Amino acid sequence: MITRYALIAAMVLSGGAAWAENHESETEVDAPQVAELTAEDVDMDAAGKIFQRSCRACHGNKAQGAASYPKLSDKEPQYLADMLARYRDGERIGPNSILMIQNAKDLSDEDIANLSVYIATAFD
Ligand code: HEC
Repeated sequence: MITRYALIAAMVLSGGAAWAENHESETEVDAPQVAELTAEDVDMDAAGKIFQRSCRACHGNKAQGAASYPKLSDKEPQYLADMLARYRDGERIGPNSILMIQNAKDLSDEDIANLSVYIATAFD
């Protein structure tokens, strides 16, 4: 229980402002290249299913974010893909990265490409 309370306290303390800026990568990450992709190029249905099952609970129905869960819907696809690949690699970026490392570790390159385009376009 102690660790659980500590985690909740950390998340409350670190909310909002810390995520106002983009967390551009200082090192190259092996992320799928999605900058040129549109909704027609990816599997939006597959991404939607993953989003509903594994992302929505924290990031919100429309990826709008809440408290210490960052908003995703206003980000560029390549930014989202880079971040997901970095979390998949186990990189710690913000104070609550452990939550994302858990959620990204089983994503394939295809999942990341699908999710990145989906999140950036489906909620406009
Ligand atoms: C248990 C809650 C939780 C779940 C589930 C979750 N996330 Fe996150 N996500 C977070 C938190 C907290 C952060 C900030 C992490 C940090 O401090 O580094 C984050 C950060 C991110 C970022 C970086 C945002 C930015 O502005 O840099 C992306 C992209 C992201 N999540 C996508 C996803 C996707 C896609 C899924 C589903 C596969 C998902 N998340 C599932 C809590 C969650």
